Amino acid sequence: MADISQLQRQILAEIAAAPDESALEAVRVATLGKSGSVTGLLKALGAMPPQERRRQGLLINGLRDAVSAALAGRREILERAALAVRLSAERLDVTLPVRETPAEIGRVHPITQVTDELTAIFADMGFAVAEGPDIETDDYNFTKLNFPENHPARDMHDTFFFNPKPDGTRLLLRTHTSPVQVRTMLTQKPPIRVIIPGRTYRCDSDQTHTPMFHQVEGLVIDSHSHLGHLKWILEEFCKAFFGVERVGMRFRPSYFPFTEPSLEVDIQCRRDKGEIRFGEGADWMEILGCGMVHPNVLKNCRLDPDAFQGFAWGMGIDRIAMLKYGMPDLRAFFEADVRWLSHYGFRPLDFPTLAGGLSG
Ligand code: DAH
Repeated sequence: MADISQLQRQILAEIAAAPDESALEAVRVATLGKSGSVTGLLKALGAMPPQERRRQGLLINGLRDAVSAALAGRREILERAALAVRLSAERLDVTLPVRETPAEIGRVHPITQVTDELTAIFADMGFAVAEGPDIETDDYNFTKLNFPENHPARDMHDTFFFNPKPDGTRLLLRTHTSPVQVRTMLTQKPPIRVIIPGRTYRCDSDQTHTPMFHQVEGLVIDSHSHLGHLKWILEEFCKAFFGVERVGMRFRPSYFPFTEPSLEVDIQCRRDKGEIRFGEGADWMEILGCGMVHPNVLKNCRLDPDAFQGFAWGMGIDRIAMLKYGMPDLRAFFEADVRWLSHYGFRPLDFPTLAGGLSG
C-alpha cells in the first residue's frame, strides 16, 4: 500500500513535469502502456488469492484512474499552451495594408491605355480594327497612296529606308498608318469601316516628336459617305475621348497626296510653364490630318471611283495622350523609366469601356 501511494506520487510528479506532449506520451506508455508499470500491477492481480485481489484491486484501480485523470489533465494544459504559442506566432494584423502582387504593381503604358480607349469609342461607332506590318514596301507606303515619284516625303530625311534589294526596290519603316488603308481596300469589299492603330517611324526628335510614334488611321469607304460624316465622327470622338460636352476644334484646308480635299484638325489647348492642358487657353495643337480618299488611291486599290467614295484620317495617338493626361514631353514616353510609368501608367485591371468609364 505504501508502495502504491509512493508509485502514484512519483508518476503524478512525472506527469506534472512533462514539458510537452511527446514527453507526456512517454509517461503514458511507461505506465498505462502494454508493458507499463501500472498495467503490470493490474496483470498481477489475476494471480492473487481472492481476498488479497479485492484489497489490492481497489488500490491498483484507484492508481490507474488517478494516472489516467492526471494524464488527461496535463494533456489539456499542454494542448492549450501549444495553441497559445501557435496563435501568437500566426498573428495577423488585419489593419496592415494588403501587399500588392507583382501583377497589381505593374502599370499599363499611357499609349496602350489610350489605344484601348479610342478603340472602345470607335468600336461603339461600328468600326473594326485592321492592322499591317511596321516594315512596309515603298509601293504601299507611298506609290499606291498617290505620292508622286519625287515627293520630298520619300527623302532620306524623313524616312528610315532599308538597304535596296538586288531588284532595286527597298523596304522602309512605315512613316504613317496609311499603307494599311491600301492593304484593307485590296482585301475587303466596301462598305469598309476600320480604324488602324499602330507604330510609325520618322527621322525626327524634339519635345513633341520621337523617331517612333503612334497613329490611328480611320477609313470609311461606301457609296455615299462625305466630309459632313467625317466631321461628326471626329467631333463625337473628341467629346467621348476627353469626356466633355464641347471641344474646341479647328478644321484647316491642307494638302495630302492621298486625299482631295484635305484638311488638318487642331484642338484647343493651353501651353503653360512646361504643362499642356486641354479644353482651355488660346493655343491649338494639331492632332490629325484627314480628307476624302483621292480617286487615284481608289483606282490603285482596284475600286471604281465612280461607284465608291469615302474619307480617311490619321491621328497622332501620342499627341492626344499628352493632351488628355497633361504630359509635357513626348520623349519621356519611350525612355522606359519606371518612375515615370508608375506616375503616368494605368492600373492593369481597369480596362477602358464606354459603359464602365474610359480612364478609371
Ligand atoms: N498619313 C498622314 C500623316 O501621317 C495623316 C493623314 C492625313 C492620314 C490625311 C489620312 C488622311 O488618312 O486622310 O501625316
